[in-house]
Amino acid sequence: MSEKISFITGGNRGLGFQTALDLKQAGVKVVIGSRDLVQGEQAVAKLRAAGVDADVLQFDITKPADYQAAYDYFNSKYGRLDILVNNAGIAGGTFPGTGPDHSASEVPSALLHKVFETNFFAVVALTDALLPLIKKSPAGRIVNLSSILASLTLHADPKSPIYNAKSFAYDASKTALNAFTIHLAYELRDTNIKVNSAHPGWVKTDMGGDQAPMELSEGGKTSAALATLPNNGPSGGFFHQGKPLPW
Ligand SMILES: NC(=O)c1ccc[n+]([C@@H]2O[C@H](COP(=O)([O-])OP(=O)(O)OC[C@H]3O[C@@H](n4cnc5c(N)ncnc54)[C@H](OP(=O)(O)O)[C@@H]3O)[C@@H](O)[C@H]2O)c1
Repeated sequence: MSEKISFITGGNRGLGFQTALDLKQAGVKVVIGSRDLVQGEQAVAKLRAAGVDADVLQFDITKPADYQAAYDYFNSKYGRLDILVNNAGIAGGTFPGTGPDHSASEVPSALLHKVFETNFFAVVALTDALLPLIKKSPAGRIVNLSSILASLTLHADPKSPIYNAKSFAYDASKTALNAFTIHLAYELRDTNIKVNSAHPGWVKTDMGGDQAPMELSEGGKTSAALATLPNNGPSGGFFHQGKPLPW
């Protein structure tokens, strides 16, 4: 039971890959989910070369059959899951951006549904499917990759730094994800499981873009810290590098 078993969705690149690297310090077995198995295997080779105990599972969060496959994988190999990092996500437009794809009044309905499917509905379904295995962990941790752009408080404040950074589909999907964090943490309040939302920072990834101020090497820290919270750590919170963010 000494090694913790983790699953990071969308771990083949970007923040998911960086979080896998950062979990090396905590001596965690990392299984990365990757839609493309070849890309996932290439990422695992890099992780192993860096000293991470890593494996890959072909996984698309929008395919419900993959939830059962993930359950079967962790159940048969380990009989439990200690850490779930719900990292896979899509932007639904280029950041920072303007135009119909970002607009509350003009967003194409299909785009709104697609972003919610990946960033919200699928995350809820996967987490609920894996929850029986996380309940078998002595210290389960669920990390939902949210964003500062989920904050209704900051979006409503003309003086906040994100006031003009409005991408409706993405922002609303992450606000809904934050609601999942709060509701699930409430339900699990008398268990050993902690559920938190992470804002990684605005990070240079394919999604974050070149203008992002934070380097990828810094971007995994919030997820890794929430994935390895001590037993007296928080649950049902929204954090960036240890500091709470307004909902
Ligand atoms: N970068 C930032 O500044 C920033 C800020 C706040 C929050 N976030 C959040 O952090 C998370 C990671 O973002 P990132 O910047 O690393 O993005 P990224 O570079 O675009 O990487 C996204 C990852 O998610 C995977 N993915 C997308 N759709 C998927 C699906 N249907 N099934 C499985 N995997 C899927 C991608 O896989 P493929 O390679 O197969 O496409 C990729 O591994 C996201 O949830 C994002 O919203 C990012």
